[in-house]
Amino acid sequence: MKPIVVSAEEAAVRAAELYRALLRRKPDAVLGLATGSTPLGLYAQLVALYRAGEISFAQATSFNLDEYVDLPPTHDQSYRYFMEKNLFSQIDLPQARIHVPSGLDVSEAALAAYDEAIEAAGGIDLQLLGLGGNGHIGFNEPGTPFALGTHVVALTERTRRDNARFFASLDEVPTHAATMGVRTVMHARVILLLAFGRAKAEALAAALTGPVTPDVPASVLQLHPDVTVFCDKEAAALL
Ligand code: F6R
Repeated sequence: MKPIVVSAEEAAVRAAELYRALLRRKPDAVLGLATGSTPLGLYAQLVALYRAGEISFAQATSFNLDEYVDLPPTHDQSYRYFMEKNLFSQIDLPQARIHVPSGLDVSEAALAAYDEAIEAAGGIDLQLLGLGGNGHIGFNEPGTPFALGTHVVALTERTRRDNARFFASLDEVPTHAATMGVRTVMHARVILLLAFGRAKAEALAAALTGPVTPDVPASVLQLHPDVTVFCDKEAAALL
């Protein structure tokens, strides 16, 4: 996993090219999507390519990584809401083929059904990942066993503090999330990891050059055969 060090803007353009190439080759591709600040530039590029007639999601399917427990899809900090606002409402991906874990039904059956739906769709062709400052991918926090599929996690204090910027106060940040597991992520055929800013430097160095350990969930990516990493020079500072 050799990272490609470019500006965040350049990464967004080059990452969007991967989607264009994939959807040209396989119009019914299955896309694993992420939320947070990291993919916003990429999503803006995908919307621009769609508007320019360069890309179509009409036959594609999507599965998002995660959702906060107890936030309804209408809550402006739910990940479903985020995706509608920043991507889904602006492209031609059919609603019926959009999947985001439910934050309201986190029963064992609903969590297992999410992994089953991914399999039934043929598996994820391209999984997009951001990187938590503590090395998490999806919401697989440090210590999460690699073998888990979609499950509920208790968010760490660090993650809640990192994400408090989107809420009125830390108290309002949900304490739990439903997330694809590391096993789910590792099943994707191709993985695209994006990391920008100095706050990601420790986690990125540990993920790419440290031991493969559940203490740094992103380190598992060293075991995947096809991972592309785009990062800026701030995130690459400790590599
Ligand atoms: C989001 C997700 C998280 C974020 C990570 C980085 O769906 O699964 O792993 O990718 O917390 O967040 P940002 O991009 O806001 O720095």
